[in-house]
Amino acid sequence: MAPRSARERRERRGQGAPTDYRGCITCFFMCSIALLASIGSFYFSSDDLEPVKQRQRSTPRPKVAAAPEPVAMPVETSASPPRTHEATTLATTEVTTSTSPVEAVPEQCKTVAFLRIQKTASTTFGQEIMSKMCGKHHQQCSQAWEHCNFGRKKCSVELYQYHLEYNNAKQFTKGQGRGCIVTIFRDPIERVMSEYFMLKLKHRQFLSFDQWDVHEDDIPEIDAILSMPDISESFQKYLHHPRNPSRNRQTLYLLGFPRVACNSSRCGGNACICDAKQPGYPATLYDWEANGTALLETAKAHLRSLDAFGLVECFNESVQVIANTLGWDLTMALSLAQNQALHVWKPTMEKARAIRSSSGARSAAAASSRSAASAARRLSFTGPGHNFWREFLQEDVKREIQQVNSLDVELVKFAREEFRRKYGMKCEEMP
Ligand SMILES: *[C@@H]1O[C@H](CO)[C@@H](O)[C@H](O)[C@H]1NC(C)=O
Ligand SMILES: *[C@@H]1O[C@H](CO)[C@@H](O)[C@H](O)[C@H]1NC(C)=O
Ligand SMILES: *[C@@H]1O[C@H](CO)[C@@H](O)[C@H](O)[C@H]1NC(C)=O
Repeated sequence: MAPRSARERRERRGQGAPTDYRGCITCFFMCSIALLASIGSFYFSSDDLEPVKQRQRSTPRPKVAAAPEPVAMPVETSASPPRTHEATTLATTEVTTSTSPVEAVPEQCKTVAFLRIQKTASTTFGQEIMSKMCGKHHQQCSQAWEHCNFGRKKCSVELYQYHLEYNNAKQFTKGQGRGCIVTIFRDPIERVMSEYFMLKLKHRQFLSFDQWDVHEDDIPEIDAILSMPDISESFQKYLHHPRNPSRNRQTLYLLGFPRVACNSSRCGGNACICDAKQPGYPATLYDWEANGTALLETAKAHLRSLDAFGLVECFNESVQVIANTLGWDLTMALSLAQNQALHVWKPTMEKARAIRSSSGARSAAAASSRSAASAARRLSFTGPGHNFWREFLQEDVKREIQQVNSLDVELVKFAREEFRRKYGMKCEEMP
């Protein structure tokens, strides 16, 4: 199971890299396996966009550039066409977001951190776009941190590569000059489905990575749930598991939380972001039921305090507003966004059809009438960027996911409203 392979990887890496991981890159023979394992798995640590065209480019990539060919396909496509029927054009965007002559021009962001939530197109934004734009504009997008190489040596945390929550994002952007934080949200149904199927079918080892926030006591149980052959039963147990950090994950990341404990075998990727001294239990930290209203208000306040944010469902527009805020070359940022060839892994999405709601699972009669209804429903399977998990889900299952993740539903709704208010762009809710 996952922790064992993570440990094996770590050990192999350890042999090849007695001091610093990066020193390893020059060490071709000893580290080639370690590089494959660590960077390869890390590469897919986050979302569904596969940078296919990247492989054809000759330009060397920083860090991740050394990554070998991806060993597995991402689960699905996640970027979608902008659902902005009144979409503002590029030109209007610049108008609406540029500062008027009377306003003080804000200082250029010296440090930039990406509050990187799982399954929100964050590999694309973090590794493809932000890593390169930071380099181009000489912004600081990494931090030396004593915890990140567990007991070995100080190392560096790239602020676009790890799943950073609010507190770390704040901490890493303090210091000299203006520090900026950006994030990307996603429709909660799409995000939850994407996370579940990625863990179930593609990257189970992420359960053991500290940056995925599963407390060590819960790893065996959640692993067993993901292994259940009946997808409907497995998904239901996963969705309702009381200590699953996937629940309201976007709100959780906006609120901030102490990371789970880590040790050398729980470092996901080539660094740990846990704080070994005061570890937390993210999935049980907040009482979503009893304190939902207050928690949502705090999360909204944190959202408002961000320098910029976007939504996966309007990825192009999101890249525009973030680029404008951070002073990035807009053409380059957009062209990096374009380099994403969206890969649709239709067979995986088809599996979601088998999922029944918790009430539907109990009532055979209801289930059969529902399946008749779902058989009548047709898919709009028109190609990359046009496919959504929800098209494969029954109505009551969608509602159930929303109920369990109701704070994320509210938070993302608020993000859409703010996106319109702040940037003058409409990013419509999915039907
Ligand atoms: C994003 O914008 C580019 C032009 O900048 C366009 O060619 C592309 O189709 C857009 N992508 C989507 C998903 O709408
Ligand atoms: C690290 O913690 C995990 C989870 O508790 C455990 O399975 C593993 O054996 C530990 N590894 C080390 C090297 O202590
Ligand atoms: C409820 O959430 C608010 C906002 O985060 C927090 O200040 C408060 O302590 C929480 N109350 C309880 C009882 O957990």
